[in-house]
Amino acid sequence: MKQVTVIGSGVMGHGIAQLVAQANVPVVLTDVYESSLEKATELITANLAMQVEQQAISESEKERTLMTLSTSTDVIQSASNSDLVIEAISEKLDLKHELYEKLEEAILKETIIASNTSTFSLEALTKNVAHPERFIVTHFFNPAQFVPLVEVVKGNKTTEDVAKRVMNFMEQVGKRPILLQKDVPGFIANRLQAALVREAFHLLEEGVADARSIDLAVTEGPGLRWGFSGPLETADFGGLDIWKSVVENLAPELSAKQQVPSFIDAAIENGNLGTKTSKGIYSYSDEVIQSRLVERDEYLLKMSKVRQ
Ligand SMILES: NC(=O)c1ccc[n+]([C@@H]2O[C@H](COP(=O)([O-])OP(=O)(O)OC[C@H]3O[C@@H](n4cnc5c(N)ncnc54)[C@H](O)[C@@H]3O)[C@@H](O)[C@H]2O)c1
Repeated sequence: MKQVTVIGSGVMGHGIAQLVAQANVPVVLTDVYESSLEKATELITANLAMQVEQQAISESEKERTLMTLSTSTDVIQSASNSDLVIEAISEKLDLKHELYEKLEEAILKETIIASNTSTFSLEALTKNVAHPERFIVTHFFNPAQFVPLVEVVKGNKTTEDVAKRVMNFMEQVGKRPILLQKDVPGFIANRLQAALVREAFHLLEEGVADARSIDLAVTEGPGLRWGFSGPLETADFGGLDIWKSVVENLAPELSAKQQVPSFIDAAIENGNLGTKTSKGIYSYSDEVIQSRLVERDEYLLKMSKVRQ
């Protein structure tokens, strides 16, 4: 790709743009708000500085990355000069439809449009578009510059060539893309996470353990191993006969609820949304939130070095 445009410079868009620029591919990060672009540039600069501090990149690589990335509020003009447009705007279907309509009026029909949606099917996203064959989903994970996985979802009408070029591009920028054979809600990783979170909420509601212990049961246990061996290979190494019994014996015990427990609804009603409001399942000071985010990125960076 000669140039990439990322649309939406929030949580995901700024990380995706940083990733592309770090791979030395010219990228324009766009947003309707100049203030959002300013914040994104600050975050990218701070993240690159952290990577220099951790000796993951040199000062000159940091400077080169910043030179490879530009920003603009002229979304359509930037997109019309790119071969790949990655849309990372708010998760609202009408906003995405409106944006695609404007894009299709202005850009070449060969330009690939990839959505970072977490919940919409490609079919729903492309309902009104003229050229569905160039649309695809590229679902990154936060922080996009560090988490290797990208779920690439091809619709019935997406061409093989578009899927191949996008998969190749993701590898070029250092990601581990996986191609889904079916356009299912939640793709793969969020379905797996949703199953785990539902059970974690259930265990907390039932008073089986406190929140910290439930979190530790993942981070100090299977979570550590999952970074090496996924659930299906784990089943093979444990023995399918054993896992048959695990599933048969435990399935009736697991939560099958379709709604979150009432304590989650009550927290939301009381305005306790998590770090966004300083209180959720735990309570946080502003300093703790900031330091946890920096620690998370440092941890992911160290992990990526270990895994290389
Ligand atoms: N946050 C996550 O962890 C996460 C993970 C994976 C995927 N996603 C998906 O990524 C997308 C973006 O999520 P986010 O968390 O970065 O959102 P966000 O709210 O942090 O950022 C969205 C940005 O898009 C901008 N925007 C809105 N409409 C626009 C338009 N028409 N043109 C240009 N810019 C516009 C907003 O000003 C904002 O800066 C969503 O589809 C979301 O579902 C989010």
